Amino acid sequence: MKLTINGVVQTLPDDWREEPLLYVLREALGLVGAKFGCGLGQCGACTVIIDGEARRSCLEIAGSLEDSLVETIEGLGKPEQPHPLQSAWMEQRVPQCGYCQAGQMMSAAALLRKTPRPSDDEIEAAMEGNLCRCGTYRRIRAAIKQAAEALS
Ligand code: FES
Ligand code: FES
Repeated sequence: MKLTINGVVQTLPDDWREEPLLYVLREALGLVGAKFGCGLGQCGACTVIIDGEARRSCLEIAGSLEDSLVETIEGLGKPEQPHPLQSAWMEQRVPQCGYCQAGQMMSAAALLRKTPRPSDDEIEAAMEGNLCRCGTYRRIRAAIKQAAEALS
């Protein structure tokens, strides 16, 4: 099985074909930014971008994605060159425990590609499936707006 992750073609044993993408990312490839929260598509902690859309990697069967482009938080930016969303997240001091935040940023990245200057309502609609038990929602919104400014 071949998957294209962050622009790199990864060849994996066929044993992984029926597994959720989240498990492949974390256990086969060591890309542990996407988190296991619920495993049911209900929390958003595992969010990645697939063909430009924010998707829940716990619900995606890896073998169905051979023709897709998968992006994870590890491909969004680098410590020495963070994506504007990652810079804004740091400047706004968004994370508390941090568990949900990779998923939050991937949903935000998908939003800003389609809607470079989102309104509050558009942010709320795009982010509503990403839960944060630490309640960082206001700072997430501020960081998305800051990143939108930086990208414009
Ligand atoms: S772990 Fe995928 S949505 Fe919760
Ligand atoms: S920062 Fe703790 S769950 Fe979001």
